[in-house]
Amino acid sequence: MEINNKITLLLISIFCLFSFSASRPSNSLFLAPAPGPSPLVVKSQPKEVANENTITFSIMPSNADPGLQRICGDTDHPIECVTTTAPFLQENMLIEPVSILKIAVEAMGNKTKEALGTANRLLLDPAVDETMVSCLETCINSYNAVLDVNMKVLDAITVHDLHTMKMELSANVENVHTCSDAFEEADIESPIKDFDSLLEKMISNSLAIGVDMVRF
Ligand SMILES: *[C@@H]1O[C@H](CO)[C@@H](O)[C@H](O)[C@H]1NC(C)=O
Repeated sequence: MEINNKITLLLISIFCLFSFSASRPSNSLFLAPAPGPSPLVVKSQPKEVANENTITFSIMPSNADPGLQRICGDTDHPIECVTTTAPFLQENMLIEPVSILKIAVEAMGNKTKEALGTANRLLLDPAVDETMVSCLETCINSYNAVLDVNMKVLDAITVHDLHTMKMELSANVENVHTCSDAFEEADIESPIKDFDSLLEKMISNSLAIGVDMVRF
C-alpha cells in the first residue's frame, strides 16, 4: 500500500514534469513556473504564465504562421516583416522564402503607392515652399523608380533569375534613400519620413529574404 502510493506519486510527478515541459514556450525569458502548493497546481500554471510572457516579451505577433515567423525572424525588422505580409498569406500556400519574398515586394510596392499619393497631395498644398516642392518632387521620382524596379524584381523571381533579382532589390535600397536624403540635404523635416522609414525596413527585409534565403 505504502509502496503503491509512492509509485502513484512518482508517476504523477513525472506526468506533471512532462506536461510542464510540453507546454513550456520557446520564449527564453520564461524560466520557471510560479511555485505552487502541489505538483497538480503547478501543472495548470505554466499556460497562464506563458500567455502573459508572450504578450509582454515576444517580439513577434504570436499568432502568425510559424513558418512566416521563422523567415521573418532572420530579417532585421521581423515585426514589420510579419505585419506587412501575414494578411496576404493564402490558404494552403507553401510558406517558403520565395513566396514570402513575392508578398513582401508587392506589399512594399503598395506602401510606395500610398507614399506617392501622400507626396502628390502635399505638392498641391499652396503653403509648401520651393525647397519642400523640390524635395517632394525628388521623392515622387524615386517612388516611381521603386515601382518600376519592383516589377523587375517580380519578373526576375518568375524566371528564377537570382542575379537580376538581387541587383534590382539593391537598386531599390538606393531609390528609397534618395527621398530621405533630399530632405536631409535641404535640412528640412520630411512630412513623409514615416513612409520612408517603413519602406526602408520593408526593402531591407526583402533583401534579406531574397539574398540570404531564396534558393531556386
Ligand atoms: C496590394 O494592393 C492590391 C490592390 O489594392 C491588393 O489587391 C493586394 O492584395 C495588395 N498586396 C499586398 C501584398 O499588400
